[in-house]
Amino acid sequence: MTSQQHTVFRLSLSGATLDGLKSSKEPLPPVDKQSVLVKINAVALNYRDIAIVNGTYPFPVKDSVVPCSDMCGVVQEVGSLVTKFKKGDKVVGNFIQDALYGAATNWNSGLGGPLDGVLREYVVLPEFGVVKIPEGSNMTDAEAASLVCTGVTTWNSLYGNIPLKPGQTVLLMGTGGVSLTALQIAKAAGAKTIITSSSDEKLKLVQEHYHPTHIINYKTKPDWDQEVLRLTDGLGADYIIETGGIGTIEKSLACVAYGGNISVIGFLGGSPRPEDRPDVAALALGKGAVVRGIMVGNKQQLEEMVRFAVVNDLHMAVDTVFPFTDSGVREAYDYLLAAKHIGKVCISMEK
Ligand SMILES: NC(=O)c1ccc[n+]([C@@H]2O[C@H](COP(=O)([O-])OP(=O)(O)OC[C@H]3O[C@@H](n4cnc5c(N)ncnc54)[C@H](OP(=O)(O)O)[C@@H]3O)[C@@H](O)[C@H]2O)c1
Repeated sequence: MTSQQHTVFRLSLSGATLDGLKSSKEPLPPVDKQSVLVKINAVALNYRDIAIVNGTYPFPVKDSVVPCSDMCGVVQEVGSLVTKFKKGDKVVGNFIQDALYGAATNWNSGLGGPLDGVLREYVVLPEFGVVKIPEGSNMTDAEAASLVCTGVTTWNSLYGNIPLKPGQTVLLMGTGGVSLTALQIAKAAGAKTIITSSSDEKLKLVQEHYHPTHIINYKTKPDWDQEVLRLTDGLGADYIIETGGIGTIEKSLACVAYGGNISVIGFLGGSPRPEDRPDVAALALGKGAVVRGIMVGNKQQLEEMVRFAVVNDLHMAVDTVFPFTDSGVREAYDYLLAAKHIGKVCISMEK
């Protein structure tokens, strides 16, 4: 098997453009005693993959990296000491490979950043770095791949500290991958959901297909925090999946419930001038709120996320699946960058 060649995409960081993303043939990596060789069927993209291309990702990335962190594939070969997997098992890889339980402690073992990722036909991963998709699951491979980053990030936000209870309110910001994933999980968990977007058209589609309790256009209602308070009878949201960062956290702190939870996840909302930045410590104190940074999550959370999705027959919101060709991969990145999507943008090796 190891003399075989396969297609691998690598990204040169020097130009900070997609022109640095090129495919070539490489030999399959060797399978050692404790690793598994996986034939990748589908890859899910994240905003991180765009940020890595344009040089705005704030954590380590190696040059000439194989990009992307999220894959679903089928085990082809196992090392002699592997006990938990066999040929034919369907698996997903853990985002931070060595984060097995508890808080992730560094970004240096993340796939598609400091470590080579999964935008390739085959990958070898340690046995401890993959999780099985149970037989009988009827998720597509793209849907299963979508559980890896945004799934675990959301699961960690809602269950990694103070667990969400049915009936509580969860606020989702925007209609990207993290938000749609969180909407689906929160709904399945019995929560009231409020989702925001810059687009009425996207909100209409989200309402039709994913049935949030309430919607808010954050462009036409720039005081969306007041709208959240109005929709919750002044109580505020118990959980906020904060994808905006320093540009939106002041409003999040205004509409979080007393004692509520804000998961600090993304940095989509831009950065105000230093003199306009909110005093997060004072605002959090005033609400008795938990403001918690999220580093994706760990393997245990990926296992819990997979189990929850299978038991509840969840199908992650996949917007479009592009083919694994030079032009298909480029179109997938361009589509994500243009933010036309609702939910996840994926690439399939089987198209
Ligand atoms: N910390 C972690 O572990 C972790 C894990 C996953 C993702 N992230 C981060 O979370 C963020 C979202 O990632 P993603 O993969 O879900 O991205 P994505 O799929 O590209 O979603 C982007 C969407 O966010 C919305 N948005 C943009 N600016 C906004 C703003 N100012 N306020 C509210 N919504 C806004 C837009 O939705 P509309 O068009 O509907 O307005 C846009 O389509 C990124 O910053 C990413 O790096 C962090």
